[in-house]
Amino acid sequence: MQRGKLITLEGIDGVGKSTQAGALEAFLRRRGVDVRKTREPGGVPMGEAIRRMLLEQEKGLSGLAELLLFFAARAEHVRRVVQPALERGQWVVCDRFIDASYAYQGGGREMPFKWIDELAEWVAPGLSPDLTILLDLPPDKRHKEIPDTQYELLRAGKTPDNFESQGRAFVERVRKTYLERAGSEPGRVKVIDAARDREQVGAEIIALVAGRWPEIGGE
Ligand code: TMP
Repeated sequence: MQRGKLITLEGIDGVGKSTQAGALEAFLRRRGVDVRKTREPGGVPMGEAIRRMLLEQEKGLSGLAELLLFFAARAEHVRRVVQPALERGQWVVCDRFIDASYAYQGGGREMPFKWIDELAEWVAPGLSPDLTILLDLPPDKRHKEIPDTQYELLRAGKTPDNFESQGRAFVERVRKTYLERAGSEPGRVKVIDAARDREQVGAEIIALVAGRWPEIGGE
């Protein structure tokens, strides 16, 4: 049995990532690929519970607690969903993965990247996405701003009056870290300009995946 492929989608909040994950899943199904779409944090009941905890935080959680919670959720998700699916030969389309911890906890929350390297090694040894699609967009061009900026506000423990500038700086650090990761692993991480309409972005993602794996055929 041939191992499946792991494709991850990344980007700052509000970039249209989840819509594109759904479109990519639909494309792969049309091509006859056995595909499993999942997301982080989430994908398993414990991961969804951690997701709710993180989203419902009223006071800022420490960066370290947040980092460990994301990796606790990931440990379950990798062991119960991602690895077994890949071993069964399924392709996994995952809405966020380890790069999100580098971007948000490392870049955004300024946790040491070395800690993230170590956690990644514990939680997902030898597991690196076959392809990561980074949807990139300047923060002020995001499709939906309010809910996510509120979430970032809560997570960062900022007060509303100083949020505007701090929130923007946070998102800028997240974006910069994603782009740096793309720069250091250009074969794995492909940057797509998400400032265009949804259909164009979707077509570019499909062209990228079909070009990488010609055996599945194009649209
Ligand atoms: P989502 O709304 O894109 O599913 O992501 C939920 C939030 O969790 C989003 O703001 C990004 C954040 N996040 C991290 O901070 N670290 C991580 O490792 C993951 C997977 C998500």
